[in-house]
Amino acid sequence: MSCGPLLATALPETASARTQSALDARGTDAQAILELTWVLIIGAGVIMLLVVALIGYALLAAPERRRWLGRASAIVAGGIVFPVITLSALLVYGLMVSGQLIAAHKDALRIEVIGEQWWWRVRYFDEQGVAAFETANELRIPVGRPVELALRSRDVIHSFWVPQLAGKMDMIPGRVNRLRIQANDAGIYRGQCAEYCGGPHALMAFHVVAEPAENYVIWERRQREPAPVPTDPWLRSGHDLFMHSGCIACHAIRGTQALASNGPDLTHVGSRLWLAAGNFPNHPGTLAGWIADSQRLKPGNHMPAFPVFMGVELRALTAYLESLR
Ligand code: CUA
Repeated sequence: MSCGPLLATALPETASARTQSALDARGTDAQAILELTWVLIIGAGVIMLLVVALIGYALLAAPERRRWLGRASAIVAGGIVFPVITLSALLVYGLMVSGQLIAAHKDALRIEVIGEQWWWRVRYFDEQGVAAFETANELRIPVGRPVELALRSRDVIHSFWVPQLAGKMDMIPGRVNRLRIQANDAGIYRGQCAEYCGGPHALMAFHVVAEPAENYVIWERRQREPAPVPTDPWLRSGHDLFMHSGCIACHAIRGTQALASNGPDLTHVGSRLWLAAGNFPNHPGTLAGWIADSQRLKPGNHMPAFPVFMGVELRALTAYLESLR
């Protein structure tokens, strides 16, 4: 998009996400998976080189020198003993790594993520396990603490993948799949739906924001609060537009009359770093663009475009939503 450089400068440097790469592991489980990957790639590479060398030897060496390759002992050693030992060792090693990946942690933070066409509903719980608040397309987690995700789907199969922190896990309608993630470094990690789920599947992204525990606690406390009804007349006009223009058919803002749950909960939408499932940095310009022309920005998504607002109305509405921090 032509407004790319403008958007990039509008965000603080800290808000830029790391490159999404499975080769840049920043979490305990991702590191274990990366280690397993390298063992398999290097091991397979060495064996392939060995086999190619033996084929070359069998083809090119003098007949009396290569004769030993045809003996029964060579065939038994190379064709049975070697693969059995190698594959058994790999099986044991693979089981040990995957056992480590599914081991439960008592002090894990529990978060529920529900895949929906084409965004992510994220639900946090209080100490009693009761749903405390909902956000969208962004998981905040404390650095260094294991987080247990309960992954569900509301419609079709999606797949939750944040390669720098953990492996990939499908979200299947009617099932709850569990995945543990843990970030060992503070940062913003991009994730992506990894199972084709129709239409704008490729634009179904999200971010995991890992921050120090004290910052996480402040964020979490603020997210539990309902949104105040604004006293400022400008923001109040934006609030009124939201309540009377059809937005409340899909969205909730806790503390107001907006209670619907078809689309993302917007109670603290101003505090999010991205919009439209990880696609645009969140600021008044992108938010206004999203409201006015969401179908051009993310064709096929379930948010209808609202070209009905005049410029001043769009600015008031956007100002109100951005004030929800
Ligand atoms: Cu959701 Cu692909």
